[in-house]
Amino acid sequence: MSRWSATQLAGEETGLDELSVKPHERLADWLAEDMAAVNVLIRARMTSEHAPRIPEVTAHLVEAGGKRLRPMLTLAAARLCGYDGPFHVHLAATVEFIHTATLLHDDVVDESERRRGRPTANLLWDNKSSVLVGDYLFARSFQLMVETGSLRVLDILANASAVIAEGEVLQLTAAQDLATDERIYLQIVRGKTAALFSAATEAGGVVAGAPDPWVLALRDYGDALGIAFQIVDDLLDYGGSSAAIGKNTGDDFRERKVTLPVIKAVAQADAAERAFWVRVIETGRQDEGDLAQALAIMARHGAMDAARADALAWAAKARAALQGLPDHPLRSMLDDLADYVVARVS
Ligand code: IPE
Ligand code: IPE
Ligand code: MG
Ligand code: MG
Repeated sequence: MSRWSATQLAGEETGLDELSVKPHERLADWLAEDMAAVNVLIRARMTSEHAPRIPEVTAHLVEAGGKRLRPMLTLAAARLCGYDGPFHVHLAATVEFIHTATLLHDDVVDESERRRGRPTANLLWDNKSSVLVGDYLFARSFQLMVETGSLRVLDILANASAVIAEGEVLQLTAAQDLATDERIYLQIVRGKTAALFSAATEAGGVVAGAPDPWVLALRDYGDALGIAFQIVDDLLDYGGSSAAIGKNTGDDFRERKVTLPVIKAVAQADAAERAFWVRVIETGRQDEGDLAQALAIMARHGAMDAARADALAWAAKARAALQGLPDHPLRSMLDDLADYVVARVS
């Protein structure tokens, strides 16, 4: 179980033996009190008086942990801008609810069977439960953000929710299509992933009443960080360890998704390789050994390394955006986090 265990969801103290090593753990330690409040709020709001299936499904996913990156971004942004009120906690919980809802929906769409080291909700219950509980969590997230009383924050998060759905739908139509290029890929990841990262950081700045240049810097940081994060997620789907990421690897290949390493390999393919990609991605005839073959072709063209280099460039952009923010220990943790999202293996 990850560090965000059921104990912490109950709002209890983190053990002192858990010394921070990774940047997101340092952030978690710095924000421990706020995060405990977020977890209490999440737990309180994921219940339903009338439909026991809702807390069952939600608890299955929420109690499995997850990195809690997005709510930490909101808390960090608000604190970095000097916020001292209560609503950053609502916003952070909102962001994690939106994330949880999209994961429930995403695993149905991707027909995934593992998430956070557990069988997915769609596997344990069914697609209908995942879709409807996901909808419920989306609605709950809106109730939470309304409590902040800030129309500007509502605008940011409502917009992000629409953009995430757009990104997922765009990916649906781009999958199985080898004409998908890096421009379309960027549009997809910016939508489905970076939109929530940037909304998380921007909303944190806005709730703190930060000046516009700070809010813009926070938004740019979240956007670039989210893109780097998703590029690496796509790399881990090919080269990662299933045990470490808590998801099955090879899902993207099986789903015939045209992710960045595939795009880079296809761009350099000779005739035989092109025929391979057309068969496995476009016609969908996949045999045993094809995933290994795809990996070999990608290695031949340095496609994984090139994608990682792109992720590094986005991480550098994220760090550059931080220059527009005041000097603060949280700023240097966010700086380190940008490196971590590229180096991560889980
Ligand atoms: C998974 O996000 C969805 C993607 C955008 C790749 P995370 O890897 O942050 O998921 P959890 O919350 O830690 O499980
Ligand atoms: C996740 O995209 C993005 C959202 C949840 C909107 P992926 O499908 O690439 O992420 P994983 O690998 O399932 O976490
Ligand atoms: Mg998925
Ligand atoms: Mg997906």
